[in-house]
Formats: sequence, structure tokens, C-alpha cells
Amino acid sequence: MSYYKNQALFPAYRPRRLRSKSALRELVRETTLSPSDFIWPIFVMDGEDSTLPIPSMPGISRHTIDRLPGLAATAKSLGIQAICIFPYTEPSLKTEDCREAWAANNLTNRAIRSIKEAEPEVLVMTDIALDPYNINGHDGIVKDGQVINDETVEALVKMGAAQASAGADILGPSDMMDGRIGALRTMLEQNGSHNVCILSYSAKFSSSLYSPFRDAVGASNVLVGDKNTYQLDSANSDEAMRMIARDIAEGADMIMVKPGMPYLDICYRAKMQFSVPTFAYQVSGEYAMIQAASNQKYVDETKIMFESLLAFKRAGCDGILTYFAPKAAEILNS
Ligand code: PBG
Repeated sequence: MSYYKNQALFPAYRPRRLRSKSALRELVRETTLSPSDFIWPIFVMDGEDSTLPIPSMPGISRHTIDRLPGLAATAKSLGIQAICIFPYTEPSLKTEDCREAWAANNLTNRAIRSIKEAEPEVLVMTDIALDPYNINGHDGIVKDGQVINDETVEALVKMGAAQASAGADILGPSDMMDGRIGALRTMLEQNGSHNVCILSYSAKFSSSLYSPFRDAVGASNVLVGDKNTYQLDSANSDEAMRMIARDIAEGADMIMVKPGMPYLDICYRAKMQFSVPTFAYQVSGEYAMIQAASNQKYVDETKIMFESLLAFKRAGCDGILTYFAPKAAEILNS
């Protein structure tokens, strides 16, 4: 019995032959990682010249805007092409109508300008969802206890327009409202922002792996209920494909699967089916689990980090949003 057509049998076929030397293993390696595979998520906060560690994400901090030029220079020197901004919004700025989300001088928009001024070549990606600005922590506007779709999309379009005019290169709608990709694309075309990309969080599942992130952006204590009426049911893979197909049809340039590692089947299926640039978000809870286990010395942090990142590439992803971006890039460069 041969395993593949025309394949030799043992002992002519000794698969261990190609594993016998490090150089041979490298020669036949199917998947590789490079710093340009990573998008680096950075949490920003108001204030001056400070960083504030996030307890549920060991090793990750929030940074004031004056620290961003330095971080952008680090990204550039490491070969990381893109930074993704997430704002910690002061509780006093959270309202029911979420108007801070599209304020021209909100934290995100100031952060975009500071990075683009300092390092114009470093791409800036944003998050489009109302949760950092919402008094009840939801990604959409809440009326009578419901997250209402169409009014939220109008708000998201204003938010995206403000980010694009601040200089964002990539808009990242993570809200899971219906119709938002088409509405954002129409707005960008009308405003002359033809080259602003949309990386849609198309297959975003309702996951318990986002909790550390919600701490980081100050949304944990405010969230009322859950996000099950808009984020996907973890049980559904066909539905994820329909969401990706829909977003591509509405004008998404790139798509994302989120969370990452427990959803590699979705990444693989998406890449096979659609052949568009596909990203995975290795989310805060995945990062926190790896850190927790490696801090206990149950696993080796560096090895697990690379094994997990490589898994995304093997599953077909073109890139990964990961909190490990600078650490992994530094090791890859050394
Ligand atoms: C905002 C948003 C979330 C994440 C990215 N954008 C949280 C959520 O949907 O509740 C999570 C990222 C992470 O956990 O690292 N909608």
C-alpha cells in the first residue's frame, strides 16, 4: 500500500530521513513566521508619559499617547507593518448615544495622528465598535434593552469617517452589526478615502476569551448582559462562512476570525473557500492563558508562543493580530 500515488515504500521511503538534520528540516519546512505577519494591538489611555500594566494580561500595559511615537519606531525597526489601537475611555465620557466614538479629538483619533506623524510608513488599524464609549458596554446602541442595528450602523459610519480623516489605514469593524461593511465602504468612497482598507471581523464569536481585553479597555464592569444577539454562536461554522461571504460582497478587503486558536477550523475553511487575505485574532484570553501557564513554568513561554503563532499560518492565515507581536518579532530578528 502506498500513501500517495507513486510513492516509494519502506525502506526506500523513510520519512525520518528528512527529519534527520536541522538543516534538512528547515529546507522542507512548509510554513514560516516573519515579523510582517503580525499586527500589534496597543492599548492607549489619557495622561502623560506613563504606562499602566493590565493585571489580567501579564506583560501588557496601556500607554499614553506621548509614548506612541516610540512604540511606532519600535514596530518599524522590528519589521512589524501595522499597529492596532484600542482606547481606554474615561468613564465620564461614556454615554448612551456613544458620541465620543466619533469625536475628532477622541483618544483613538489623537493616537492615529501621533503615530502617522511620527512613522508614516507604519500602518494604523482601528477598532470600530461602540463598547469603549457605551455606558452599558455593548458594541451597539441600546434602546429598550435591545442592541439596535440600523442606528448603530449610522454611528459606526461616523466613527469610521472620523478615523479615516485622522489618517487610519485600516478600519477594523468588530461590532457584528448587519450592513456595516457596505455602509462604511460607501462612506469611504464618498469621502474620497478610496485606499482606506476594511479588515472586517467577519467571523467574531461570542467568546469568554475576551474578558482580559474588557478589563484593558475598562468595559468589564459596565457590560450589561452578554453579546449573544450579535456575536456568533461558538457552535456555528456554516454561519461563519455566510458572514465572511457577506462582508466580502459588501466591500471588505480582508477578513478576520476571532478568537484564534479554538477556531482554527474556521480559519482553514475561510481561506479554502474565499482565498482573500485572512487574519486571526489571538485574543486577550488566549494570551492570558499562555502567560498564566508559563508564569507557573507549566509550559515554556517562547516555545508555546511560536507554536501557537505558527498554527495560524498553517491553518491558512496570512497574518495574526497578537499581543506577542513585539516579543515574537524580536526573537525572529535575532
Ligand atoms: C470590541 C472588541 C473586543 C475585542 C476586540 N474588539 C471585545 C468584545 O467584543 O467584547 C476583544 C479582543 C481581545 O480579547 O483581545 N468590540
